[in-house]
Amino acid sequence: MPKLTVEGYGTFDVADDKRLVLAIEQDAKVDILHACGGNARCTTCRVEFIDGEPTKQTVAEQERLAARGLSGVRLSCQILCDHDMSVRAISRLEGSGRPDPGGAPQESITPPPQWIEG
Ligand code: FES
Repeated sequence: MPKLTVEGYGTFDVADDKRLVLAIEQDAKVDILHACGGNARCTTCRVEFIDGEPTKQTVAEQERLAARGLSGVRLSCQILCDHDMSVRAISRLEGSGRPDPGGAPQESITPPPQWIEG
């Protein structure tokens, strides 16, 4: 069972291959945003990795980050908890001015992932 550490919130045991965005929300109880419902479109689920950044990436994540000119962050809706990770939750509902965090992401990665090894 992988361990997820969210800076300022603690370390949590997470089910194997759980989507990172759901682990942050459900296990670490962080009010992370997921405005597009976990579909690699909005980038509001972005996190900074402190440790354990995955080398593999979905094509959707790579394309969206490039389109927005983002670097140094990853999209938690496009990452599976398959090893220990430590992250900083930098995009939260609190202070965002949004009424809610966004639609609930499905249990599996959407769109269906095509993986690229980094
Ligand atoms: S990109 Fe929208 S929730 Fe991840």
